[in-house]
Amino acid sequence: MKIVLSGIKPTGIPTLGNYLGALKNFVKLQNEMKEDEFFIFVADLHALTVPQDPKELRSHIRNLCALYLAVGLNPENLTLFIQSEVKEHVELGYLMQSLVYMGELERMTQYKDKKQKQVEGVSSALFTYPALMAADILLYDATYVPVGRDQMQHLELARTLAERFNHRFGDTFIVPQGIEPKQGTKITDLQNPTKKMDKSAENDKGCIYLLEDLNKIKKKIKSAVTDLDGCIRFDKENKPGISNLMTIYAAMSGMEIKEIESKYQGCGYKEFKEDVANIVVQEIEGIQKKYQEWIHSPQLDELLDQGREKAQHVACKKMEVIRQKMGYGR
Ligand code: AMP
Ligand code: TRP
Repeated sequence: MKIVLSGIKPTGIPTLGNYLGALKNFVKLQNEMKEDEFFIFVADLHALTVPQDPKELRSHIRNLCALYLAVGLNPENLTLFIQSEVKEHVELGYLMQSLVYMGELERMTQYKDKKQKQVEGVSSALFTYPALMAADILLYDATYVPVGRDQMQHLELARTLAERFNHRFGDTFIVPQGIEPKQGTKITDLQNPTKKMDKSAENDKGCIYLLEDLNKIKKKIKSAVTDLDGCIRFDKENKPGISNLMTIYAAMSGMEIKEIESKYQGCGYKEFKEDVANIVVQEIEGIQKKYQEWIHSPQLDELLDQGREKAQHVACKKMEVIRQKMGYGR
């Protein structure tokens, strides 16, 4: 039995990018790996790396819990929990900070990007965030970590830290492997197709949120930025808008990009966008229905309580071993 683990930050309503880069892949893996155990959590401590409105944060945490289930995660072999409810993340996060080098953190492209965009003070937590992420993973001895492309660099660092720890203190951690989805590893903004679709984007016209009005979603797809070439062909460099829509279509339908190219040969952008909009809206509609059931169900809290107990149990045992190896405490 292997452990598959992943998390999402509750910094807003999850987007189509989160869905295709992460959530949909979690469900697919869960269906394929029935013998393995899934630890999926809400990374609320990570959300605090940038300023949050406390009320909104609370509601985003709950929304994300309900969404995890609404997209189809099966509670049977799932430990669903909220990161901050398991204090060991913070302890191991600190230990990882003692292990990671400044230079390694400075090389993280997400940090460099965010630092550039942020007008007011950049918190030190934003800088040390990959150490906490490594702790999230190593605490549970996860073998597989499904994430989108933007998280691969952080995952590499988690591997480095696991190896460094094992080398210094003896074999303790499993060195985790990242799993990227086949398609949808990076969904870009519909208005700005060279940028990642991000729930914290300033302009929401290019971003599709899983809980927004279905007509609005259709409109956003139909007004996605394309090019003047008029040909449905995958070319990220010269046709980023159309290529992004093709990626979305492929990830939604399970079709290969090549198949989409031949299916839409000679077809106009308008018709293609219409089809993309339909396939997206159809799937999101189903998710929204299930979301409404989960968000109002007392079973959600029951699952979160069970998840917390289970995660605490595993984390507590692991921390005992770690303290012993590192020699701090009594
Ligand atoms: P975040 O919203 O940054 O907490 O990301 C949660 C998960 O969604 C991570 O696995 C990311 O790699 C994935 N993700 C976020 N945005 C995108 C995107 N635009 N395309 C693909 N995957 C994404
Ligand atoms: N850093 C991830 C993100 O922003 C979320 C995350 C936190 C995560 N801890 C994790 C993902 C551990 C996988 C494993 O998307």
